[in-house]
Amino acid sequence: MFIGVDIGTSAVKIVLVNEAEEAIAEAAIPLSPSHPSPLWSEDDPDQWWRALCLGFDALAREAPVAMSGVRAIGLSGQMHSLVALDAADRPVRPAILWNDGRADQEASGLATLGLELQLQMGVLPMPGFTGPKLLWLAHNEPDIFHRMRALMLAKDYVRLKLSGEKLTDVSDAAGTWLLDQERREWSREALDACQVDATLLPRLIESVAAGGTLRPDLAAKWGLPNDVVIAGGAGDVAAGGIGIGAVSAGNAFISLGTSAQVFVADTAHRPQPERLVHAFCHALPGRWYRMAALLNGASPLSAAARWTGGEDVATLLAEAEADFVGPSRLLALPYLSGERTPHNDPLARGTLVGLTRSTTRSEVLQAFCEGVAFSLADGLDVLTRNEGRPGQLALIGGGARSRFWAKLIASVLDVSLVRHCSSERGPAFGAARIARLSVTGEDPATVIVPPAIEDIIESDPELHAAYQPRLEAFRDLYRALKPIWPAVSS
Ligand code: XUL
Repeated sequence: MFIGVDIGTSAVKIVLVNEAEEAIAEAAIPLSPSHPSPLWSEDDPDQWWRALCLGFDALAREAPVAMSGVRAIGLSGQMHSLVALDAADRPVRPAILWNDGRADQEASGLATLGLELQLQMGVLPMPGFTGPKLLWLAHNEPDIFHRMRALMLAKDYVRLKLSGEKLTDVSDAAGTWLLDQERREWSREALDACQVDATLLPRLIESVAAGGTLRPDLAAKWGLPNDVVIAGGAGDVAAGGIGIGAVSAGNAFISLGTSAQVFVADTAHRPQPERLVHAFCHALPGRWYRMAALLNGASPLSAAARWTGGEDVATLLAEAEADFVGPSRLLALPYLSGERTPHNDPLARGTLVGLTRSTTRSEVLQAFCEGVAFSLADGLDVLTRNEGRPGQLALIGGGARSRFWAKLIASVLDVSLVRHCSSERGPAFGAARIARLSVTGEDPATVIVPPAIEDIIESDPELHAAYQPRLEAFRDLYRALKPIWPAVSS
């Protein structure tokens, strides 16, 4: 038995799987990040811990026998966070999350330090990364900056609570803009550039290495054995890749969670910072990946559901599917949290163009489904420019549940999308595989395989043709509105 945990943005998800990778029990505890000002996105690290405890309490109640057979826990989580702890290991302020845009000036300053550092970090410095946010803290909250005695990523704060260990894995460290991706070590040059004292940083291990054991009091509380290993774990993107079996060069998938990514695995580090591609360490030694990172995946749909009366997203998607007659007359930019690939623009905002007196809520929802599909098309373009486009990609994450949305995406991108069993479990399922590898000594190639295929969603050629002018209009709309963003986002 193995447990996979994902410290997500909107929920902590936990899955308990057996040796045959069947889910024996699951828990999802909602989280509520806060946005104290337009560019800010924060959460209380203790909220993650409380949610994890509620989830483990539920698993202990529902599956006590399985819990007594657990051998390892794998942690995955939202990347790029800044969790700053004081001398007593207490958070000195709320965590600053991956979709926070406050460190724009700091990121722009770091970008002037030259291409060499960007190649080493695998990506252009952008405001959501930990390094630029640390500089922001030094400039804007110096008292807090100087009280800081340890730096954590989201899943590693929870690890500290579970095991007392201060460490992280290379795939999560990859998102800090402090890691030399090729050497898989903290970068002296980046630490200096971001004014980070190396003693603040957690120890680095590979994702599939064992990284400590569960505290005995917690093991007793949840009916777990005494020697449960906590694996290095992974950032949520890499964990998603492990779950879907994407570790060989060219394996590609789209992840559609709160955020979204277009991902291609690689056996070498191939940075392309000028394209705003992220080239990061993967969760297996000697593996890397490249991704287009979109800050707005399913989140614009949840927001649209709220604006139009609070019906749940699944109901609205079913309504939009029933009303669908072709490409929407509305055009939506989904950039509610700004955007990374392909714009590096924290000030970009969500937009809806073409409203009339008779616009319905299902048209609004469809327009945002299309807007996210267009931004995935932009992501696939930058990732595969001058290279062959994959004809087939896997689709994972909560958004993968909607066949309707998947069909729109397949048609806009003109690719086949493969949905695998457990696709919607995403990073938590990958984290359970990482837990397994940390204790069994199995060959990763026998464990990290694609789960059985549930269905393949093909592009509709007519729809693809109909969407081409809309995609161009989407791109024009962003360009036309760019000068307006400062006025609406401060
Ligand atoms: C990836 C990214 C998000 C977060 C939250 O670069 O910012 O995927 O990891 O899911």
